[in-house]
Amino acid sequence: MCGIVAYIGHREACPIILKGLKRLEYRGYDSAGVALLDDHKALKVYKKTGKVADLEQEIGNKDTHAHTGMGHTRWATHGAPNDKNAHPHLSGNGEFAIIHNGIIENYASLKAMLIQKGHHFSSETDTEVLIHLIEEVYQHNDVSFEEAVRMSLTQVIGAYAIVILSKSNPNYLIGAKKGSPMVIGVGKGEHFIASDATPIVEYTRNVVYLNDGEVAIIDGDQLTIKTIDNTLKTPFITEIEFNLENIEKGGYEHFMLKEIFEQPKSILDSFRGRIHLKEGHISMAGVNKFEDKLKNIDRIIVIGCGTSWHAGLVGEYLLEDLARIPVEVEYASEFRYRNPVIGEKDFVIAISQSGETADTLAAIELAKSKGATVFGVCNVVGSSIPRATHAGAYTHAGPEIGVASTKAFTAQVTALILIALSVAQKKGTISNERMREILNEMETIPAKIEAVLQTDELIKSLANRYKDAKNFLFLGRGYGFPVALEGALKLKEISYIHAEGYPAAEMKHGPIALIDEEMPVVVIATQHSNYEKVVSNIQEVKARKGKIIVVATEGDEELKHMADHVIYIPACEEIMLPLIATIPLQLLSYHIAVLRGCNVDQPRNLAKSVTVE
Ligand code: G6P
Repeated sequence: MCGIVAYIGHREACPIILKGLKRLEYRGYDSAGVALLDDHKALKVYKKTGKVADLEQEIGNKDTHAHTGMGHTRWATHGAPNDKNAHPHLSGNGEFAIIHNGIIENYASLKAMLIQKGHHFSSETDTEVLIHLIEEVYQHNDVSFEEAVRMSLTQVIGAYAIVILSKSNPNYLIGAKKGSPMVIGVGKGEHFIASDATPIVEYTRNVVYLNDGEVAIIDGDQLTIKTIDNTLKTPFITEIEFNLENIEKGGYEHFMLKEIFEQPKSILDSFRGRIHLKEGHISMAGVNKFEDKLKNIDRIIVIGCGTSWHAGLVGEYLLEDLARIPVEVEYASEFRYRNPVIGEKDFVIAISQSGETADTLAAIELAKSKGATVFGVCNVVGSSIPRATHAGAYTHAGPEIGVASTKAFTAQVTALILIALSVAQKKGTISNERMREILNEMETIPAKIEAVLQTDELIKSLANRYKDAKNFLFLGRGYGFPVALEGALKLKEISYIHAEGYPAAEMKHGPIALIDEEMPVVVIATQHSNYEKVVSNIQEVKARKGKIIVVATEGDEELKHMADHVIYIPACEEIMLPLIATIPLQLLSYHIAVLRGCNVDQPRNLAKSVTVE
């Protein structure tokens, strides 16, 4: 996690950096800091615990004049979130400054070695160790600043995206990356460095995504890219895919609300150009690449974390239903450490919004090392996971800024429906007629979601009624089960109310003991297979006086009499249920969190891009 931004060019660096840090706050907001280097070699460092707004206040009218500088927003790993541990960190002699996203795993042994050599540290961070190491290498070898950085990095174990400046070189910045993301914006006579392209898009659309093991040297307006062992590389310039308006709130109070309301469009963007109604056909280049393999594989393993894992669970149901291939869904963090049985005949689908989640990346590397084929389903174009996988499909939901994932989830599910259909067609497990039916239904989904969004006022009133609940239970069966899990996760994440998602039938094996008149129970009870069974589960809750909120199919009068509250959603194909039924649950958690005064877009302790394990 952590967000980094740096600038070198003809403009004032500080406003660009602060604005960029605000765009990257989704990556962490424990503290923020800047280092600004003016043309007269004066280095100004300001840091503050808390958000970028707190840092801005701290800076106030202080001198920020500089054309070179860098900033950092922190998600604490090593050392408490306080001013002292905030980045940038300086070398002992104050010559070098560093910002860092990642973890230096061997920092303790490096620190012990440096202490022996007389270094003193003023923070508890792993990052400060790295800048002292660079200072040590620079002082005791006849090398340039750049060589000192490269030589030091060869001693480092762990992940990093770093930017370093040297006080004596005001028009010079060095960036380097391994395992954490780094993008370089190439403008006219100016360069930008950031964790993603959002701080850059306002100034230039031309970017270079740095690869692992590469170092970027910006000398004046000259960009050079090398590997750590000094091999020159040609910078590969690509264009940013999104616009400034995609990363602004556009009149909504929060990014999360904007992103919930964007779903008719983001889902359309996910399937646009991929489904061909007339021909009853799907085109997904990444899937086509493995046509032969997919016809013969024994099983598919789906990996992901958090909300992406929930999408993976939907993927399991879809792939088994439609393509008749056994599927296992794994938390990436468990998979990577438990010596899984996996080999050349396995096909792995890795799901990630950010494309940067450390556990998912490590699980991918493990699967690849055992010979498996790995397919990525990611949202952020050019991120690490799409580059680490053999092929994949982008979800095209556009930038998601709210820390709690909403539109990325429905876009992942959309992509998984298309993948399952495409595999089913290749395997011959779906008839042309059924294929057409499903594709026709897909086309209607954006309008159905528009209709669900109309229930916003009703949901707001439910939020008001239940905002003080201590616990919530979410129940569902079949495709409704991952929806229940996702509903519970959303509520936990942003409102800090304890919530559990459960398969409705499992309730009697434990959670039923929690039910009393204080307990709101949200049940996905649409008219699909298992409907009657879910209705029985509702009766079981009712008998124990739980408060029942159902998500039901439009026109279902029976449930109106049984439940305390009904949220109606349009009838849909069962496999599309997660796309539609998730929306009211997103709105419910959103409104509850707002009413409880929580920071919806930046919930405590969380970060959007989890680049540490
Ligand atoms: C974090 C985010 C979640 C997200 C999870 C996986 O915990 O707060 O919203 O689902 O990481 O992230 P990914 O980018 O891999 O989907």
